[in-house]
Amino acid sequence: MRTMRSVVADTLGEPSEVLRLQTRPLPEPGPGQVRIRVAAVPVHASDLHTIRGRYGFTPEFPTVPGIESVGVIDELGSGTDGLTVGQRVITIGVTGTWQEYVVADAGRVLPVPAGMSDSTAAQILANPLTAVILTGDELDVRQGEWLLQTAAGSTVGQSVIQLGVHVGFKTLNVVRRRSAVEEILALGGTAVICTEDEDLRERVADIAGPDGVSKAIDCVSGQVGADVSRALAPHGELVVYGALSTHRQTDPDKLTIPIFARSLIYETKTVRGFWLFRWFAETPQDRMVAAIDRTVRLADSGALRVPEGQPIPVEKFSEAVDLAEAPEHGGKPLLVFEP
Ligand SMILES: NC(=O)c1ccc[n+]([C@@H]2O[C@H](COP(=O)([O-])OP(=O)(O)OC[C@H]3O[C@@H](n4cnc5c(N)ncnc54)[C@H](OP(=O)(O)O)[C@@H]3O)[C@@H](O)[C@H]2O)c1
Repeated sequence: MRTMRSVVADTLGEPSEVLRLQTRPLPEPGPGQVRIRVAAVPVHASDLHTIRGRYGFTPEFPTVPGIESVGVIDELGSGTDGLTVGQRVITIGVTGTWQEYVVADAGRVLPVPAGMSDSTAAQILANPLTAVILTGDELDVRQGEWLLQTAAGSTVGQSVIQLGVHVGFKTLNVVRRRSAVEEILALGGTAVICTEDEDLRERVADIAGPDGVSKAIDCVSGQVGADVSRALAPHGELVVYGALSTHRQTDPDKLTIPIFARSLIYETKTVRGFWLFRWFAETPQDRMVAAIDRTVRLADSGALRVPEGQPIPVEKFSEAVDLAEAPEHGGKPLLVFEP
């Protein structure tokens, strides 16, 4: 029997305690499915929250984490016309990718442009696609408009800045440390607020002037998210898509944003959420294909440059897990599978 290496979480719990490398039988593709020999998969903080039972879905355990992958098709099931063995593809919305081989429905794989690196391809969906959707379908940020964003140095944040340069909207970027400011400006960010030594609401007024900022995205939540909602112009919209400030909370009831009711009511603002998994499940196929296609084309053209990942052999997966949530971690840890 042919086998493969999989990273498996045996039970719900702290990733460093419940993850282990396991040898499992090679999966076989059924009708309409393909098998992919995985080259690289990113380790996202959200993968770790899933194992902790704090994410938007909780899988059955034991489970193989992972939501993205790039690899090469090595076997086709019946009825998979248009795909070929040897084709390099990414998986779309397929979970359980932290293993050497993944079986996916043919409709859930997408061939990768020849010039795109494995590092970019492996990471293109979760973060750059989220940036494309948030600035496009969700908020429709137009040329000349301001978009305020928190954790601007994140992979999503960097994509948003580059989209601003490409589309012509202005980004007001919030970061938590002074040492990140230069990188944000060098990437094309219009202005930066550093919460290490600046007051967010005061600085928004200084930078954006009396009209303020009408559109914002936040992945920090807690007091930072609340300050962003309060800094918005009347009728402003805030899309909340993450809760980084609550990462060390163990009580899910503490994952909150203390919104100031007066500002929300009398300035008739909107605060709403966004989650890519729900978007995958609920978006009509043509809109989904268009957004993914746009993201891949922007990355292929160089308009979107995804920060280079840090390859780590799967045997050392615990290093990748530690790195994923470390402060100032830089590029994403990428699990790589060498034969
Ligand atoms: N809702 C969705 O569908 C969706 C989709 C994609 C991503 N996300 C979310 O988007 C966020 C960013 O993900 P990513 O993979 O792009 O991140 P990443 O590349 O891992 O970078 C994390 C960034 O967040 C900053 N950060 C961490 N903790 C913070 C805190 N307490 N306060 C302020 N900044 C903090 C870090 O700053 P330092 O450099 O100073 O450490 C770093 O710039 C995550 O919350 C993720 O879950 C959500």
